[in-house]
Amino acid sequence: MSEAKILSLEVTVPHRIVTNEDMARIVDTSDEWIHSHTGIRQRHHVDPDQATSDLGTIAGRKALESAGVSPESVDLVICATSTSDYINFPATACIIQDALGLENAGAFDLLAGCTGFVYGLETARAYIESGLAGTVLLVGAEVLSKLSNMQDRNTCVLFGDGAGALVLTGSDHGGDARPTILGSWLRSKGSGAGALMRRAGGTRNPYVHGQTDPTDLLIEMNGRDVYMFAVDAIVRTITTLAEKTGVSLEQVTRIVPHQANERIIEAAAKRLKLPKEKFFINIERYANTSAASIPLAMNQMVEEGTLNHGDTIITVGFGAGLTYGGNVIAW
Ligand code: ACO
Repeated sequence: MSEAKILSLEVTVPHRIVTNEDMARIVDTSDEWIHSHTGIRQRHHVDPDQATSDLGTIAGRKALESAGVSPESVDLVICATSTSDYINFPATACIIQDALGLENAGAFDLLAGCTGFVYGLETARAYIESGLAGTVLLVGAEVLSKLSNMQDRNTCVLFGDGAGALVLTGSDHGGDARPTILGSWLRSKGSGAGALMRRAGGTRNPYVHGQTDPTDLLIEMNGRDVYMFAVDAIVRTITTLAEKTGVSLEQVTRIVPHQANERIIEAAAKRLKLPKEKFFINIERYANTSAASIPLAMNQMVEEGTLNHGDTIITVGFGAGLTYGGNVIAW
């Protein structure tokens, strides 16, 4: 069987940096509160004319170039996002497919909240290892700033914009020394769906002109419930993946969690009796970029020289749905 290999990883963030002090000019908050409760110092926000597919296209183009694959050879584009250019359709993946001239590719969006990248990696692997696709472009892209309620200090300070993209192909196409996905674990706890949602604009509460409260179109979250779910999700994912793949936590070089809140990661590390340093944390720079946060983290590790050939990492995601899960990757 052909194994799925990661040929390239590239990222992009918008140029505009929004600091905690900037947020304190918008809502009643402070750098001290945000940093002490979340670990965040700044985030990147898009310009008014930029949408999710713009970031996804930049990251995707860079990933195709570094992989050295031709546009014609891409069979599938998967865009993991919770902040699509348009509500539900057309898929953001289709807009990226067109912008990159991927004429032979199918394209669809994958909606799994902040676990979108983890789900996307396993989906790409399934397509490749089943032989249904030879080359897959996986994009995790988000513009959370445009769907945040900028009057709600409980949520708007938490999010940032960004994108990451990976090109994956089968080992029978070469790339033997490239990173391999050893295993994944995906779960859903739909009973918690109400903890993190956009209440209106879908078929449950369709937009009604003059009646829909505009804030119901934006992100709403019960922070306490998500916090408790997230700590448990990280612990369960890591212990299950270690058992499932036979990779011990000592063998794992680094755990790469979704960057939602540094305190969630600290609490999970404590429960797992692992040092905090085992977890890569860069929330300070980017805040929570949902499906883009794990590729942004992995890319920073590669650039800093802390993720190298021969290392084994575990990714862990958790988010709206509620979804959770992770991947074990031999780099
Ligand atoms: N600035 C100042 N004060 C604030 C802010 C802010 N930005 N946000 C909330 N507060 C206030 C609240 O109003 C509240 O005040 P009150 O007691 O007068 O009502 C007080 O701080 C405490 O609120 P808590 O909700 O108890 O604060 P907590 O310490 O739990 O932190 C947080 C809130 C950061 C949202 C936390 O619950 C959390 O991290 N939850 C996890 C959810 C998460 O990270 N989601 C990210 C997106 S989803 C995902 O990726 C899974």
